[in-house]
Amino acid sequence: MEWWKEGTFYQIYPRSFKDSNGDGIGDLKGITEKLDYFEWLGIDALWICPFFKSPMADFGYDISDYTGVDPLFGTIDDFKELLNEAHERKLKIVIDQVYNHTSDEHPWFVESRSSKNNSKADWYIWREPKADGSLPNNWISLFSGDKEESVWTWDENRRQYYLHLFAKEQPDLNWQNEDLRKAIYDSMKFWLDMGVDGFRFDAASHFYKDIDRDVIEGPQVKKSLFESVRDQYYWDPFTARPETLLEVEKLRNIMDSYKDKVSVGEISSDMGLCLYLFFTLPKRFNIAFNIDFLEKLSMNPQKIKELAEPLDELFGTRAWPSYVTGNHDNRRIVSRMTDGTEMDSDEKSMVSKLFATLLLTLRGTPFIYYGEEIGMEDTVIPYERVMDPWGKALWPKKGRDPSRTPMQWNYSKYAGFSTVEPWLPVNENKSNINVESEMKDPSSVLNFYRALLKIRRSYRALTIGKIDFLEANEDLLIYKREDSGKPIFVILNFKDVRKNFSKFDISGNILLSSEGRKGSVSSKVDLYPFESLVVEGR
Ligand code: NOJ
Repeated sequence: MEWWKEGTFYQIYPRSFKDSNGDGIGDLKGITEKLDYFEWLGIDALWICPFFKSPMADFGYDISDYTGVDPLFGTIDDFKELLNEAHERKLKIVIDQVYNHTSDEHPWFVESRSSKNNSKADWYIWREPKADGSLPNNWISLFSGDKEESVWTWDENRRQYYLHLFAKEQPDLNWQNEDLRKAIYDSMKFWLDMGVDGFRFDAASHFYKDIDRDVIEGPQVKKSLFESVRDQYYWDPFTARPETLLEVEKLRNIMDSYKDKVSVGEISSDMGLCLYLFFTLPKRFNIAFNIDFLEKLSMNPQKIKELAEPLDELFGTRAWPSYVTGNHDNRRIVSRMTDGTEMDSDEKSMVSKLFATLLLTLRGTPFIYYGEEIGMEDTVIPYERVMDPWGKALWPKKGRDPSRTPMQWNYSKYAGFSTVEPWLPVNENKSNINVESEMKDPSSVLNFYRALLKIRRSYRALTIGKIDFLEANEDLLIYKREDSGKPIFVILNFKDVRKNFSKFDISGNILLSSEGRKGSVSSKVDLYPFESLVVEGR
């Protein structure tokens, strides 16, 4: 069985994980310092967000040198040390490759914009205005939100527009150019030769796009599966072109020329299940990062089942699903799920445990976002401290800073993250939500994650076993995981009142309960409010 099917990934946003040199920004040495923590917790692979040279217009997702480490994060030797130390602990390292665009300060773009006939003139997407002088197409940049700013920025020197699906500092690469493709392949090989265990491919559904046409305005009506594929795959210019899928096969070929590498594609969230499947068919990405699940999660068990069941059925033996409850582009799970309620901290930790159980017991590769394992919540960021370009554009409605604040290692002033004021404020709740205190508390969210990860490793039914959804009503979600041994039942109460599951004849040994129950259980027993229970059946 491939390691990435059974393993658990942990996502690190390096700016916010651990600052080793006292500049208020996390770095590679900081991650190395904390490697024992992952061994203790039971993690198999780290996915580290970009730490490459970058002017930081989008905090590293605007790269100016694909094979260089940004001095803010350390040196290439620091990375090699991190890789070796991680491998010593049997921990895999997956890094982020941002190949849809570069920074506008990347030497490739600097050369490309210098004239219409330099050797890299065609490495980016340049267009003349339309005959009537208007923009080359009517697309709106993904970062502009309500401001409806174009994806085109005028370059006075070339007297042409360049395309950027994201910020204007992130010009899109032209994948049709063979030399550009070779340069990308070379940078992949640089890291693979060094020994990294895989890549997460940023914005991977956008590599090729149908830019020479306008988007038709109007509501997108959900239709049949075939019609959605047709609309979104062939017709939606922001999503995949067939060439992108063929390109993914080439990237996969490169990965497969090494041993045991994993490829994780970031696929647009609005593309639907079928496209997840297209992107993960054999010979394409091993895993598509499941943003759809992440964004549609709610406290409604029926809706959760509707998200997970078809995914599992559709993927079947052809591909492998993934599950995600949080990442650096979305709000923290416990904040989203408890919004508008009056929950106290105990109830919130029960909700954290509920989603931990879901994440770690569905069939598919789980990704834990840093800090979720201690129940970190969104931090309120005053306008003067907003860093995220998207957050600035959409203030006060949206922004990504609240879920990117420093990891809470202890209850000291800067939460043990740094010795100086960090780049984003530390959440006030660090006094009780932090690694050091939670390690000592047997009923903490952290110890619950650790126990879950331990049983995941001990029971194959929980990783690769088949899944059957037995119940999904307004309160309860119950499913069975089964491999060759005894079945395992997962019983989740999404309500703040006691519930029983007597409709089902489930009895057996309690492997884990978020209420700390031990011993055996039968369906006559009431669940506590928000309780998660994992039971080994008879
Ligand atoms: C997706 C990344 O997750 C996000 O943080 C970034 O801003 C965009 N891609 C652009 O690279």
